[in-house]
Amino acid sequence: MSTEMLEVSGLTAGYAGPAVLQDVSLDVNAGELVGLLGANNAGKSTLINCVSGLIAPRAGRIRFLGEDITRLKPDQIVARGIVQVPEGRQVFPRMSVLDNLLLGGTLPAARADRVRRLEQVYALFPRMQERSAQYAGTLSGGEQQMLAIGRAMMAGPKLLMLDEPSLGLSPLFVQSIFRALRGLNAEGLTMLLVEQNLTLTLSCATRGVVLERGQVAIAGDAAALAADPRTRQAYLGL
Ligand SMILES: Nc1ncnc2c1ncn2[C@@H]1O[C@H](COP(=O)(O)OP(=O)(O)OP(=O)(O)O)[C@@H](O)[C@H]1O
Ligand SMILES: [Mg+2]
Repeated sequence: MSTEMLEVSGLTAGYAGPAVLQDVSLDVNAGELVGLLGANNAGKSTLINCVSGLIAPRAGRIRFLGEDITRLKPDQIVARGIVQVPEGRQVFPRMSVLDNLLLGGTLPAARADRVRRLEQVYALFPRMQERSAQYAGTLSGGEQQMLAIGRAMMAGPKLLMLDEPSLGLSPLFVQSIFRALRGLNAEGLTMLLVEQNLTLTLSCATRGVVLERGQVAIAGDAAALAADPRTRQAYLGL
């Protein structure tokens, strides 16, 4: 029996104008890697930004480890263990790799573990140790993605949410990023992975959810989704 970690129910949210997300429900159990898939503008980022507290939903409820977090502020949500790797990486270009990493571990709860966590990040991405003194802005896109993931890991996440980590990266970097994510999940880290790369995501996810124009079009076991022709149809918005 798996334990429910994140429970999103009946979520409706958007910006000015009509709602972008309509009555979206999704669960992530402890230890899972859930892929959140969908075409451009499907509402993937909007959904995880609601979970992070960056967008206030119009209706619905978000629970994490049994607690209602729907109306909490972003810093309160991070403090509970939900950490997001944002779309487009958003590292601080004029700061060193090391300083970017240390910034991820500044919360009181994370501070005591900074040295140990830094060692873990360097073990996960040896390249970050090689480049630790370098300005983050001088890293390649793939290295910046490693840094963004490393920074999130410094906060000691219970649930790691990643927004399109493969976007714009060369195939080699995509492979090493996904290898790292698989490794973290195998060690027990729970993840919600937003991706456009359907095949790669379903190859490492336990379950998948496909959003189509702000609604859940199809959801289920990753292997079943990969085999179901409706997945590709929904994904392409057909
Ligand atoms: N800050 C914003 N203000 C107004 N509308 C927005 C904003 N951000 C996103 N939207 C709109 O909400 C809808 C869903 O966008 P969202 O970014 O959630 O999609 P997505 O699935 O993450 O797409 P992508 O794969 O391109 O990142 C789109 O129609 C988009 O134009
Ligand atoms: Mg997005």
